[in-house]
Amino acid sequence: MEKIVSLCRRRGFIFPSSEIYGGLSSCWDYGPLGVELKQNIKQAWWRAVVQERDDMVGLDTSILMHPQVWEASGHIKGFSDPLVECKSCHLRWRSDELEGDRCPSCDGELTEPRMFNLMFKTFMGPVEEATSVVYLRPETAQGIFVNFDNVLNTTRKRLPFGIAQIGKAFRNEITTGNFIFRTREFEQMEIEFFVKPETDKKWLDYWIEQRLNFYVNLGIKRENLRLRQHGAEELAHYARECYDINYLFPMGWAELEGIANRGDFDLVQHASSSGKSLTYFDEETKQQIVPYIIEPSAGVDRSFLAFLCDAYDEQPDNDETRVLLHLHPDLAPVKVAVLPLSRRENLVAFAKELYADLRQCWMVQYDDAQSIGRRYRRQDEIGTPFCVTIDFQSLEDNQVTIRDRDSMNQIRVPIAELRNTLQAKLEGEDLFVLPPGGMIWKEG
Ligand code: GAP
Repeated sequence: MEKIVSLCRRRGFIFPSSEIYGGLSSCWDYGPLGVELKQNIKQAWWRAVVQERDDMVGLDTSILMHPQVWEASGHIKGFSDPLVECKSCHLRWRSDELEGDRCPSCDGELTEPRMFNLMFKTFMGPVEEATSVVYLRPETAQGIFVNFDNVLNTTRKRLPFGIAQIGKAFRNEITTGNFIFRTREFEQMEIEFFVKPETDKKWLDYWIEQRLNFYVNLGIKRENLRLRQHGAEELAHYARECYDINYLFPMGWAELEGIANRGDFDLVQHASSSGKSLTYFDEETKQQIVPYIIEPSAGVDRSFLAFLCDAYDEQPDNDETRVLLHLHPDLAPVKVAVLPLSRRENLVAFAKELYADLRQCWMVQYDDAQSIGRRYRRQDEIGTPFCVTIDFQSLEDNQVTIRDRDSMNQIRVPIAELRNTLQAKLEGEDLFVLPPGGMIWKEG
């Protein structure tokens, strides 16, 4: 984990929040490369679960919601963890995560556990009084449930169908840590998939498989993913059945995504609390039914950490170490780097023109500082799949080389073919499938 944290800082993926003031515990800022990677993860998810499906639509609901939402959802009553405090050093712990019954920091005696609600409270409007209390949402899901009827009426979707949302969630976690793994402000990617009650098992299995495939298709090694079923005693208050997709993080196996069968709990609760009907008219049986909900709920930040950990690699490089990120091209923050072999004026002008052209298609970096070897290493370290090198011969034959990050193999292609060739390679075509006029390139 130390290596990942250090890379994130060094290369501008993630910084401690409010660092010039000493930071704020468990809060992190995504830097120039981090914001690109995070954006790409969200885009890949949205593409897989909304854009490429005809049974899903998206939503973007507000973080602050009517306080009654949290009464009905059970969060005010039940969204709590057992908290204990050390009588000597006064550190606080989640008692269900402790191994013994003494303080892990100073071995002091602990208080009896008391339930601590994880929702952040704030006040709506200029008066701080009980009637103006609102909560920062602890999950994005509730924004979907309360819009079930709106979506049904405006999209005319029929069961089974789903609603997807990406957004911030907040939990006043008792213990945080492991970098961005557990924080108090984080982002979720949630699907609420509405099904006929008798088909819930089938759809739960279906979504487990879909979600495992999502991570594997984006490069996570299958052996680093595991499915874990929740025991009856650990099920959330709304869940009938739940599976975690666990990832082998540097600190051990831990939850990356949860996939739950929420049954009809949420729609029944909100219908009874709001007095509005949240049912669905089943054309087959000619009856009003309350759909069941299958919920695959993923964390953006945890996915970010999992993708980084899985992509991280070190290879011997003479006396040094070559650090590289084998990020899937869809996720890589920078897709292509443009590198003129030297800073000679005519070469730089040529390279900058190419850079301006390629930037219209992808995030591209231009770099002409230090040796070409060092520049390749800099790009490897941030996971750039391809480097385009412009040399003196390029000025004469209008050809450039493309270097592949993982194999370090190179091909040489006419500039007229460059955009299409890069596009094909970014989509997974083998490097040695050559465009017209292209050739395999051996340096020297
Ligand atoms: N709506 C269901 C729900 O929120 P959850 O298992 O509590 O379920 C879903 O959360 C996902 O959100 C988790 O699998 C994890 O990826 C992410 N998540 C939850 N709490 C988090 C935290 N404190 N920090 C970072 N990510 C978190």
